[in-house]
Amino acid sequence: MGKQGQYEDSSNSVTEIGEEKKERFSRSGFIFAAIGSAVGLGNMWKFPYITGMYGGAAFFLLFIVCLLAIGLPVLLAELAIGRGGRGSVSTSFIRLSGAKGWGAVGFLSILAPFFILSFYSVVAGWTMHYAVLTFSGRLFSNTDYGGQFNAFIGGWLPVLWQFIAMFLTAFVIIKGVSSGIERFNQIFIPGLVILLIVLMVRALTLDGAGEGVSFFLKPDFSKLNTESALVALGHAFFSLSLGMGAMITYGAYVDKRQSLGAAAIAIGLGDLLYAFLAGLIIFPTTFAFGLEASQGPGLVFVALPAAFAAMPLGTLFGGLFFVLLAFAALTSTVSLLEVPVSFVTEQLGWSRSFSVIIVTAAIFLMGVPSALSVGGAVSGLNFGGKTFFDWFDFVCSNIVLPFGGLMVTIFVGYVWKGAAEESGLTASWFKLWLFMVRYIAPVLVFLVLLYSAGVIHF
Ligand code: TRP
Repeated sequence: MGKQGQYEDSSNSVTEIGEEKKERFSRSGFIFAAIGSAVGLGNMWKFPYITGMYGGAAFFLLFIVCLLAIGLPVLLAELAIGRGGRGSVSTSFIRLSGAKGWGAVGFLSILAPFFILSFYSVVAGWTMHYAVLTFSGRLFSNTDYGGQFNAFIGGWLPVLWQFIAMFLTAFVIIKGVSSGIERFNQIFIPGLVILLIVLMVRALTLDGAGEGVSFFLKPDFSKLNTESALVALGHAFFSLSLGMGAMITYGAYVDKRQSLGAAAIAIGLGDLLYAFLAGLIIFPTTFAFGLEASQGPGLVFVALPAAFAAMPLGTLFGGLFFVLLAFAALTSTVSLLEVPVSFVTEQLGWSRSFSVIIVTAAIFLMGVPSALSVGGAVSGLNFGGKTFFDWFDFVCSNIVLPFGGLMVTIFVGYVWKGAAEESGLTASWFKLWLFMVRYIAPVLVFLVLLYSAGVIHF
């Protein structure tokens, strides 16, 4: 493994370098795993707070449009690259284009999940800590929830929880594609829906829930502006796990006979459903207790505890909520870890277990400054007004991710000739797909990129 064969231009777009990935998902296993990757802190932590900040229902509608019109075509493109290339991200790019230069893009999309995991796992750790805090009743012993949250993220405990989050992720990944990733998601993704529905019924039956529902579902278009459109598009990418090779990596394990178009639609709608249910839990709850929906990242950790404290059986519902968040986060961290692990096993020829241990350790170490920088020991270390955590999040979500997405659209739109066949789409669907991937998606994604990099302002 890992030795690079000569690659020749052949009419069959797959050229020979290294070995092809052999492991495969089952049909439903793949759908669950991909939904598991998509559904995460993005749906349940980030989506509600940005929807709160950018005006509620109108923003939600924009998000739906971005997800369906831009997200789905790019998702299909990533899945097709993965299945067509059957390698780690950079190998797949090289195989399908026959040009080594494309390997650099693949390499970038391998570093990115590496970085993003180092702070995503920090927040995943917070959710686990909050689950324990809630179930044990300690959360409610002090009603200054903001102060409690700050004291927690200001201490050393987040490092321990981040370690636990990475450890659990590594545990799943070490078991491999079908008995690790697939089995884990087949249990937790249906489990999540049940938990979400229980919590939604609870939220919708609270006195005063109606106001939250109309904030979430009754659009006021005057609140929309260009900035909210770009944020919606950026979030559609994040939420569908696009732009850094996660879906390419999973695509490499998909059976040739499975329809990628149908899979992309199932994944997109699944992701949307979880965001919708999360909104129907969080907004009715926040409004019913007169809390502020637009308060940003603290929404889930600061506002919701106050609501749980005031509701009958709040310990149970609050605890369930944080368990739900933790599971959702873990099905995503699993997909993020698989990307660099697949690269390392393929390129260096290491065994899966050894790769997982080394990569996990490196990510954990890189995450320590993140875990401590939100309010802890190294929070004084600022670069240009941003902490480590902020920098990781900002650079990954706002620059690397749209850049990766842009490269995917260019690759499928202009470089790779075998996309039509690999996608399995009928001629008219293929035309529509190609149109979106060639002309619409790259332009809009480029705008997001310029905006995020501070080159253009609105
Ligand atoms: N989509 C996940 C969420 O919504 C996060 C995630 C997992 C991700 N894998 C990714 C984001 C790959 C970008 C790229 O929380």
